[in-house]
Amino acid sequence: MSETLWLVVPAAGQGRRMGAEIPKQYLSIDGRPVLAHTLARLYQAFPASRLCLCLDIEGSSFDPAWVPFAGWRRVTGGAERVDSVIHALEAIAGEAADDDLVLVHDAARPCVTVDDLQRLVTCLADDPVGGLLATRVADTMKRDDGEGRVAATQPRSDLWHALTPQGFRYGLLRRALRHARAGGIAVTDEASAVEALGLSPQLVPGRRDNLKITHPEDLALAALVLSAQAAIPSTKTTIQPC
Ligand code: C5P
Repeated sequence: MSETLWLVVPAAGQGRRMGAEIPKQYLSIDGRPVLAHTLARLYQAFPASRLCLCLDIEGSSFDPAWVPFAGWRRVTGGAERVDSVIHALEAIAGEAADDDLVLVHDAARPCVTVDDLQRLVTCLADDPVGGLLATRVADTMKRDDGEGRVAATQPRSDLWHALTPQGFRYGLLRRALRHARAGGIAVTDEASAVEALGLSPQLVPGRRDNLKITHPEDLALAALVLSAQAAIPSTKTTIQPC
């Protein structure tokens, strides 16, 4: 039997940095909520995968009609992103095999391309650890002194932005997140939990336009990216296959 590809989409955040009245995953781009755009991209890349969607308790703004997947399931999110993902992994415990690949993708990243999604899965197919889409840091990086002044300039040559999806085998990911939670280790992505086990996830170079909607100006940027991608659907970056 072939392994199942699972998609976990944490969409239970309040998105306070957006300063909007509703969580950012429900804000509209071109008449459709951010979450619907994100799910459409994931479905285009992996129509046969199994989706687990983490939603806030009320989920009042949520409409199941946005979900193109068959047989998807919904779980209640947790206090932090990592808790939402743990809830999803616990919910599929009876069905997921330890070797199944799980991709975790932020609801707030609607601009991820089908090409990046499929390349990530190809790159991870034989990887014993797993990995994530990432982009090399382009700007010079400063560390602040806590008072709005520069304390140091960080060398950027080996720095990357961690994007999503991040993909790991079910058994490893569940163990890593439980270990991080039990140890009080702060994790803002799945890779950092896996790193805390002493493992090194693969950095899979992705497109720079896979932005996470976080601040108010990001919504307009995401709208521009989506319309540019729609106008030139075959746009490829110079990214090499792994
Ligand atoms: O807040 P941040 O931008 O890091 O959130 C990334 C993703 O995690 C968003 O899609 C958000 O909805 C989700 N999230 C969640 N549960 C939380 C916090 C964030 O599912 N408690």
